[in-house]
Amino acid sequence: MSASIIDGKAVAAALRGRIAERVAALPFTPGLRVVRVGEDPASGVYVRNKDRAAQQAGLDSATIQLPAETSEAALLGLVRQLNDDPAVDGILVQLPLPPQVDPAKVLAAINPAKDVDGFHAVNAGLLASGQKGLVPCTPKGVMHLLKAAQVTVAGARAVVVGRSNIVGKPMAALLLAADATVTVAHSRTRDLASECRRAEILVAAVGRPEMVRGDWIAEDAVVIDVGINRLPNGGLVGDVEFAPARERAAAITPVPGGVGPMTIACLLENTVEAAIARRG
Ligand code: GUN
Repeated sequence: MSASIIDGKAVAAALRGRIAERVAALPFTPGLRVVRVGEDPASGVYVRNKDRAAQQAGLDSATIQLPAETSEAALLGLVRQLNDDPAVDGILVQLPLPPQVDPAKVLAAINPAKDVDGFHAVNAGLLASGQKGLVPCTPKGVMHLLKAAQVTVAGARAVVVGRSNIVGKPMAALLLAADATVTVAHSRTRDLASECRRAEILVAAVGRPEMVRGDWIAEDAVVIDVGINRLPNGGLVGDVEFAPARERAAAITPVPGGVGPMTIACLLENTVEAAIARRG
C-alpha cells in the first residue's frame, strides 16, 4: 500500500487563515522584527518568505538588515532596544550569525516573552517541565501536522532521529507532553535501523540526505521528514528515502511541501500568542 501524503502546504495555509482571523479581531497589531546580520543567501529566502507571510496575516512585520561586520555589542544593543519597544511582540535573530558574534549570548539577551523562536533557555526549560511558554516553530508545526492527519499520539511509540536544541529535543518534549512513548535517536545510536523500525511515529531531523532508509520504516508508520537537503545536482530531498518509505508507511510528509511551510505559520502563531500574553 502507498502512504497518504500529509500536505503541509494545505495545513499551513489553513493555519495562516485562522491566524489572520485572530489578528483581525485583536484591538492591536502584533509586531514581529526579524534581525538579519550579513547576507547568507539561503537565509535571504527564509527571511523574505517570513516577511510576506507575516504581512499577509496582518502582522506589523519588518526585517532589520545589519552588515556582516556588525559587532556583538551592537547586536546586543539592538536586541535590548527591541526588548524595550512596546510595539514589538516577537524578536527573531536569524541564524547563522557571523563568527565575531556568539549566538548563545544573543539568544540569551532576547526577552523570553518575545522569543518567538522558542530558543531561549527559559522557554526550553518551560517546555521540558511541561509549562506554558513559546515553543520552537518546527516541532510545533509537526504537532499541528499530526493533528491534521488525525494521528493518535497518546500511547504511540514515537522515535525522533536527531537531538538538536532547535528540533529534536523540543520535538521529543512535545511528543512526551502528548503522551507518546518517546525515543530520541542520533548519530551515535548503536543500531539506528532497529530503533526506527520500532517507530509508529517517526520524526527525522538529522539534516542528512535520505539517511533514513525505506526499509527502516515499519508497516503503517507515520513518517514526518523535517530535513531539507540540497543535492549537488540542485535537487531537494529530505532525511528519509521517500519512495520506498512511502510504500510501507500509512502517511508521510513530502519534501518540499511537508514540514517546511508549517515552520513559518507557527512563527506567526507564536507572534500572536506572545502579543496576547503580553498585551492581553
Ligand atoms: N535559520 C534557519 N531557520 C531558522 C529559524 O527557524 N530561526 C532562526 N532564528 N534562524 C534560522
